[in-house]
Amino acid sequence: MPIRTTRRDLTKVALSAALAQSATEATARPSRKRARWIPARRFPNGFLWGLATASYQIEGAWNEDGKGPSIWDRLTHTRGKIKNNDTGDVALDHYHRYKEDVQLMKALGAKAYRFSISWPRIFPEGTGAANTKGLDFYSRLVDELLANGIKPFATLYHWDLPEALQDRWGGWEARDTATAFADYAGYIAEKLSDRIRHFFTINEFTTFIELGYGTGLHAPGLKLPPARLNQVRHHTVLAHGLAVQAIRAKARRGTKVGPAEIIAAGVPLIETPDHIAAAERYTREANAAYLTAILEGRYTDGFLSSAGANAPKFTPEDLKVIGSPLDFVGINVYVPKYVRAIEAVPGYELVAFSKSHPRMASSWHVIGPEALYWAPRHLAKLWNVKEIYITENGCGASDQPAADGVVYDSDRIMFLRSYLTQLQRATSEGAPVRGYFLWSSMDNFEWADGFATRFGLIHVDYATLQRKPKLSASFFRAVATLNRVV
Ligand code: FCB
Repeated sequence: MPIRTTRRDLTKVALSAALAQSATEATARPSRKRARWIPARRFPNGFLWGLATASYQIEGAWNEDGKGPSIWDRLTHTRGKIKNNDTGDVALDHYHRYKEDVQLMKALGAKAYRFSISWPRIFPEGTGAANTKGLDFYSRLVDELLANGIKPFATLYHWDLPEALQDRWGGWEARDTATAFADYAGYIAEKLSDRIRHFFTINEFTTFIELGYGTGLHAPGLKLPPARLNQVRHHTVLAHGLAVQAIRAKARRGTKVGPAEIIAAGVPLIETPDHIAAAERYTREANAAYLTAILEGRYTDGFLSSAGANAPKFTPEDLKVIGSPLDFVGINVYVPKYVRAIEAVPGYELVAFSKSHPRMASSWHVIGPEALYWAPRHLAKLWNVKEIYITENGCGASDQPAADGVVYDSDRIMFLRSYLTQLQRATSEGAPVRGYFLWSSMDNFEWADGFATRFGLIHVDYATLQRKPKLSASFFRAVATLNRVV
C-alpha cells in the first residue's frame, strides 16, 4: 500500500532534519555569542608584575671596587661546604652586565625589579667609612631600571653580612650588629630614596637564621644551642625595627618600607570553618619568632613558654621597636604547611606530606599552590595588613636545553599557573596584594646547592654566561602583559 505523504508532512520532516543538523552544529561549533569566553582570572588594575634576585646570587665581582668580603664569600671559599665547590665569585657577572640584564627583564614585560644591596659593597668593614664606588653601582642600576620603565624595589639584607662583623662581634649574635644594620639602612635611604621608593629590610629571617646559625648549612655555618639561637632571632627582628625607624628618619617623604619574610603559611587541607580556624592559629604560632613578633610587637605566650629558660632576653622598648608600623608586608611563598583541626590543645596539627606528594627539583620544594591563596588571606585576616607584596615565588626545574637550544620548562609553567591561579583567587576575594615578584629572572647561585639548581625564567650557560629565555619567560610575559593567569 502506497504511503500517502502530504506536503505538510514533508515540510515537517525537512524542518526536523534541519533542527537536528543545527543542534549537531551547535554542539560542535557553538554560536558566536555562546563561544565568547570571558577570561575570569584577572588581577586588579595596576597590579605590579616583577622579577626578583639577590646580590650574592648574581653579581660576582666579589672583591672589586673596594667591596669587603661577606660571610658567603668566606663559606664558599671553604672547600666542601657548597655543592661542586661552586662560589659566587663571578656568578652571573651581573655587576658588569647589568645593562644587558635590565634589557632582558624589560623584554619579559617586568614592571618592577626586586634586587638586594650588598652591605659589604657599601660598608666593607660593616661600619665606618662608606665605599662610594659600591654605592655608585646601585645608583647606576637604578637609573638604568627607571630609564626602562622598571620600578626598583631594594632589599637591604639578603644574607651577605660583612665578614668583618662576623669576625668582630660574632655577627647577629651581637646586638651591635642590629644597630650597624640600621646605620647602613639609613645611609642607603638617604642616598637612594630619591629614586628607590620601596625598601625591604631583611629577606627570610627564618631561612638564614635556621640554616646559618641552627643547622650550619648556610653562612656563617654555625650550630648554636637554643638560647643563643633565640638571641640571634631577637637581634634580627630588632635590626628590622631599627632599620624601619632609620629609613623613616633619613629617606624622602613617602618612602615605603616592610620586611620580606618566608611565611609559614597554614593551609587547611579541607576548607571548612574548623580547619580554616586551625590553619589561622597555626600560622600565628609558627611565625612567632619573626613575622608575628613584627606584626604584633610581642612574642606570643606559646613561643615564650615553649622556649622556657632559652627565651631571648629583651626589653619592652625592644618590642616597640620590633613592632614599628610598616607600609607593607612582603612574603615569599614556596611551600604549604598542611594543617587540620584536632580536639586536643593547641587545636591544630601539621599533616605530613605523603610519600607521593609532588615536588619540584629542589628536595625541599613540595608543591602546594593553595599556599599562595592562604598566605595573603592570613596576613589580611590575622593582622589586618593593608598592603602585601609576594616578594618571591617560583621553582627550580631540571631545565635541559633542547636541540634548538631552548629550555621547554613545561613543569615551571605548570607550577606558576597553579600558584597564580590561587593568588588570583585571593585578590578576587579582596586580599590586598599589590604585586608579585617571580624568583628569579635568571638562573643563579642557589646557596648550598651551588649552580646545580636552576630557578630562572632565563637560562644561563655558566661556561659562557650567555643568557637565553626559557619557554616560561614567554608565559611570564603573557601574564604580565595581559594582567591575568594565562
Ligand atoms: C629563597 C631565597 C632566595 C632563593 C629562593 C629559591 O629562600 O630567598 O634567595 O634562594 O629561595
